[in-house]
Amino acid sequence: MKSLLAPAILLSAAALSASAATVTFNEQIAPIVYAKCAGCHRAGESAPFALTSYQDVKKRGALIAAVTQSRYMPPWHAAPASVNYRDERRLSDTQLALLQAWVKQGMPEGDPAKATPLPAYPAGWQLGQPDLIVSFPRAYRVPADGPDIYRDFVIPVGLAEDQWIRAIEVRPSAPKTVHHMLYYADVSGTLRKADQGEGTPGFAGLSLPRGTLSLGVWAGGTQPHFLPEGVARPFPKGSDLVIQEHFHPTGKEEMEKTVVGIYFAKQAPERRMLSIQLPNEFGLFSGLRIPAGDKSYTKRDSFTLPVDVDAFAVSAHAHYIGKSMKLTATLPTGETKVVLNIPNWDFAWQDGYQFSEMLALPKGTRLDGEVVWDNSATNPHNPSTPPVLVKWGEQSRDEMGSVTLELLPHLQTERKLLTDALNARARNDQKAAIDRDPAFGDFLEDLFSGKTAVFQAGERKSQQ
Ligand code: HEC
Repeated sequence: MKSLLAPAILLSAAALSASAATVTFNEQIAPIVYAKCAGCHRAGESAPFALTSYQDVKKRGALIAAVTQSRYMPPWHAAPASVNYRDERRLSDTQLALLQAWVKQGMPEGDPAKATPLPAYPAGWQLGQPDLIVSFPRAYRVPADGPDIYRDFVIPVGLAEDQWIRAIEVRPSAPKTVHHMLYYADVSGTLRKADQGEGTPGFAGLSLPRGTLSLGVWAGGTQPHFLPEGVARPFPKGSDLVIQEHFHPTGKEEMEKTVVGIYFAKQAPERRMLSIQLPNEFGLFSGLRIPAGDKSYTKRDSFTLPVDVDAFAVSAHAHYIGKSMKLTATLPTGETKVVLNIPNWDFAWQDGYQFSEMLALPKGTRLDGEVVWDNSATNPHNPSTPPVLVKWGEQSRDEMGSVTLELLPHLQTERKLLTDALNARARNDQKAAIDRDPAFGDFLEDLFSGKTAVFQAGERKSQQ
């Protein structure tokens, strides 16, 4: 919460005019809180307390003023960009100013005749009856206290046909302890070996091996979504569903047995999606060596689109000492669009950002990705005290990082031109990395043959 000290310039002209008039809960505040907070802050959802009545909000007024001013809440790490994101949780400057003014004015309730009703939250599946419902084979025990837990669970699905996923909706059995989830397809079928036997369900680990397909991300308490019309993620036949859950102990022991609803497309989409990572492979080829104490170790990568594309989502990934991420697109006209800008990365709030509308990027557009890490002692998220040299790897004390753009080729017939260019880039990056450091070749060989990421029943082997 270091950004609690955010400068007061956030209080814009809107703030001044807002503070002049009386702001009441019933008129201005309830609509903001019900739209931007109560989705998570209500009974049965992820946040630790409800914000569903005047009394609830008034009781925590001072804290609410502080955490909204610092933009710790609502959790939303993307700064305003050139694109609009779907379901943006960020408060507008005006909403923020109204909240601040209301708290300053003593939090009046206002005219009961103007009260805003709490939205109805439909029970059951938000997206309708799923095509397939699966669940954890066994419940996982989340202890009452202790550090946050990141754990991967494998749900054997094993369909006989290839499928295309349009949405995933999850129903945690202990929602207060589930902070967020990342979904994957394990095509290889090897991860289920790591999650078998009589021991604790699941296995520890922050990143899954190469070849696992990303199926999206969900932050506790948020509305699930279908992908845009005509977009679906591949779920090849035989794949298992892998879910990485982030648990936040609640002070009370909880048993979590997640139920997952999967929504398939009726048919294979005409255009097949792709993703472009910058730096490539989460920075595997970038020669990541983050010296102890370095406050802004930076890696950049670029890729020029060989064909027209329509992008629909962007996401970012790093481990604990990630600091900021950025993706820009420079069009052939010279115009630069900011696609994603995360100035304060927080590993605890991973998010995917779907665009409100498809972002058309013409052939010749240059994508520039940048990831910055802070390996200093002053980074409160640094897992090592004192800081140590950090290299690329899949364990929590290792790092990786990239920004990923998800897109469709504008014409399916041109998809191969794009995959050929991406494959050529991967080969060049790999060759350059080995030329720079021959030992990297051995490391890669171990990694690709599965020697580096060793799984044992119930637990992932530590490399420390
Ligand atoms: C996506 C879910 C989500 C949304 C939306 C959300 N919160 Fe939270 N909130 C949480 C969670 C989870 C926590 C527990 C702390 C954490 O995990 O960071 C929390 C914690 C808090 C806290 C306690 C902070 C502390 O330091 O103890 C306050 C106050 C708060 N939220 C206010 C708000 C307000 C006001 C809004 C809307 C303007 C909001 N939250 C929107 C999920 C959410």
